[in-house]
Formats: sequence, C-alpha cells, structure tokens
Amino acid sequence: MTVVALVGTQWGDEGKGKITDVLASKADVVARYQGGNNAGHTVVVGDTTYKLHLIPSGILYEGTTCLIGNGVVVDPKVLCEEIAYLHQSGISTANLYVSEKAHLIMPYHRVLDQLEESQRTLKIGTTGRGIGPAYVDKFMRMGVRMLDLKSRESLERAIDQVLPFKNQLLQQVYDHPGFIREELVEEYLAYAETIVPLLADTSLVVHEARQAGKSILLEGAQGTLLDVDHGTYPFVTSSNPTAGGAAPGIGIGPNHINQVIGVVKSYTTRVGEGPFVSELNDATGDLIRERGREFGTTTGRPRRCGWFDAVLVRYAVRVNGLTGLAITLLDVLDALETIKVCVAYEYRGERLEQMPADLEVLKECKPIYQELPGWQVDTTKVQTFADLPLPAKEYLTFLAEQVGCPIQIVSVGPRRDQTMLLQEVF
Ligand code: GDP
Ligand code: IMO
Ligand code: MG
Repeated sequence: MTVVALVGTQWGDEGKGKITDVLASKADVVARYQGGNNAGHTVVVGDTTYKLHLIPSGILYEGTTCLIGNGVVVDPKVLCEEIAYLHQSGISTANLYVSEKAHLIMPYHRVLDQLEESQRTLKIGTTGRGIGPAYVDKFMRMGVRMLDLKSRESLERAIDQVLPFKNQLLQQVYDHPGFIREELVEEYLAYAETIVPLLADTSLVVHEARQAGKSILLEGAQGTLLDVDHGTYPFVTSSNPTAGGAAPGIGIGPNHINQVIGVVKSYTTRVGEGPFVSELNDATGDLIRERGREFGTTTGRPRRCGWFDAVLVRYAVRVNGLTGLAITLLDVLDALETIKVCVAYEYRGERLEQMPADLEVLKECKPIYQELPGWQVDTTKVQTFADLPLPAKEYLTFLAEQVGCPIQIVSVGPRRDQTMLLQEVF
C-alpha cells in the first residue's frame, strides 16, 4: 500500500506524462487531482505518441483504474473527444471514473478566458481553455458540477444559478452576445450520455484501494512555479499543482501520501509569460528547444528554454516535501560541450539562495552560474546510472546536492525503455 504524488517542479511540461506512464505499470490506481485540459501530457509507447489532456496517463495499461478527481475542472467536450480518441487508438476506458464533485468548464469560461486575457495589460499567456474562469466560479460557489449532469432538472437548476450573471458580464463588459440557456442545456445533456456512466465517488475508490493494499499514483499537472499560491503569481494557473493540492483534489488525508516525486527537466522551460532568470535567448536556447522538441503539447507554442535553475527546484523540494527526483530529458544535453547550472541569484549585489516572492525582485535577479563539463555522448540507450558517462553522473549528482533531494529516476528519451529506476517506487 503506497500512495505516491508525482508533481512538476518547474513551470510544467517536465515529462510528468512519461514518468506517470512508466510508474503506472506497477500502480493499481492513477488519479489526476487538479488542473484541466490546460495540461498536455505526452506518453510514447513504441512508435505511437499519445497526447493526454484530462485522462490520467495510466490509461494505457488495461488493468489500471484511472480517476479524474474532484479538484480537476473538466471540459466535458474535451473529455468526450479524448475518450473517442483513445477508443480509436484501441485503448479501453473501461476503468476510467470521474468525480461527481468535479466542476465543469462551460463555453462561457472558455470565452471569458480569452476575452479577459485580451483585455489584460499584463498578459499571463493562458492556454485559453477556460481553466481560470471555471475555478473562479467554483470558489464563487456558482459552478456547474458533474453531479448536475445526472438529470435535465439538476442541470437546468445549476445553469440558472450562474448564466444570468455570465451573460450580463459578457454583454455589458465585453460586448459579447452571451449564451442561450436551452442550447447549453442540450449540449451538456449530450455529453452527459457519455460521462454520467463514469461518475463515481473517487475519494472512496482511492480509500478502498488503499485499504486493499493497492498502489496509488497521484498525477499532478502543471508545475510548482505555476501554483496559484507558490508560483510566480500572477503568471500562474488557478489551482494548486503542488503536492498539498493532491489531498483535497482527490479526497484523501495528507498523511496517506507516502512519497512525493518531483519531475524535473535537466534544464528549464516555460510557456506563457513571466520572469525566467536562467532563460537563454541565444543559440544554446535554440539548440535545447530543437533537441527537446520544446513546443507546447496543448497550444503548440514554442517553449522558452534555459539552464537548470537550482533555486527554483530547491524551492520545489521545500514546498512539495519532495522525497525523490525524476530527472528527465537528460539526453537533450548530450550535444553540449559545457553546461551551466544556476546555483543562486544576484539581486542588487546580494546573493539569494532562496526564491524571492516579489516578482519585481525576481525580474531583476541575475543568475549565478556554475559551469560543468558536458559529456558529448549519446545517452539515449543507456540503461543504468552506472553506465552513464562520468560527466553526466557528476552533473546529476551536482543537481541533487544543489537542491537537497535524492534522484530516484533518470529519463534519457521519451519511450518507456529509456528510463532508469535508481530506487524502486512501488
Ligand atoms: P508533461 O506535461 O509534464 O507531461 O510533459 P509534456 O508531455 O508536455 O512534455 C515533455 C516532452 O518531453 C514530451 O514530448 C515527452 O515525450 C518528452 N520527453 C519526456 N521525457 C523525455 C526524455 O527523457 N528525453 C526526451 N528527449 N524527451 C522526453
Ligand atoms: P502540463 O500539465 C506548461 C501555463 C500557461 C500560462 C499559465 C496559465 O502539461 O505541465 P492557464 O490556462 O492554466 O490559466 O494558463 O500556465 N500552463 C502550463 N504550462 N504546462 C502546463 O501543463 C500548463 N498549464 C498551464 O502557459 O502561462
Ligand atoms: Mg505538458
């Protein structure tokens, strides 16, 4: 009986999908606990690439129970499309369950996300999927939930609680025509046909799995620096991707989480706006982007690339209580002669070892780098840590020392067989 939370330690896209898929071979249950289809998790099996936005990355194993927890905001249109996409690929979703309490993304959330972003002077660079506005309604206590899909009456009741407010806002502030109640009801009742049979008390599913001694993996989306509390606010998402978010997001006690694994790139990337101290706006940044195929899974946007930032990951170790690291995309650095690691920031002549909360400070921080030798050897076929080239081993050891957390997994390619397990997880 082990419950493992897997979280992103940087600005998302660390390879959580790949590592979840690898660990899911031994997990009985895989659950998403926050975010929505702003996430894009890639899993490569043989020659096939799967891109998942809502459904947990454990779905490719037939016997694994996959849960979408109450903390996730679900766009039912996207969920239906993703289910259809998996079925077309020959993947069963017979073991997929969705929390009755999860909130729904409605068409007005998507529209508001885009309109609000267009009006902002300080752009966040949201994915435009309606994530922020859906969480706003949840906390305003006017959200439409999965439960409401169970009957026409309950759906109408829920929509009537919120639609007049949304239409007023859309019409009066944004000069948008708004949405027609009957059209929304019909559209969502059509999704209900696919989704209602999947509804479950996902907290109870996890509880019973724990009691039966099963292994449970909680798959985070986004990353620590996108956390609404701990990230680079306001350039963040509207949920808690950090490990603490897993307990309320799935409905388990925090004391039941045994391990917290932080997925971390061997360098740093970010999509969207906001400060990025170790960003490389040069040929090395371009090389990393090309070798790592750093283009967004959800929006296709080129990701901003930079050196590994130990200040960020040290912070992620702290706010998540990380027990182990899964270092990904090590192979991307194979081509480099030397590699830099940002070990601290310099702010107005002062050395900062910890992440400042104030973005005005962070914006002015300059990276203090330590340079390490590269290895210039293809690592994509290496199967054990011992077989890695010496400079690669030294690089990884240096990262672990810098951030104060042991390495549990090393990934040297997108496929399952390009993964080294230094310490068993389940
Ligand atoms: P996620 O959002 O954290 O699941 O990450 P994404 O799927 O958005 O982005 C990670 C990308 O890196 C995907 O294209 C993966 O297939 C790929 N990937 C994961 N691990 C490795 C690795 O070790 N090496 C290489 N070259 N690619 C990897
Ligand atoms: P995965 O799970 C990377 C970023 C967006 C934007 C900010 C807010 O694949 O790692 P939102 O639409 O959430 O309101 O956008 O957060 N963002 C991500 N960046 N990976 C993700 O997910 C992200 N999900 C949101 O680019 O800067
Ligand atoms: Mg992603």
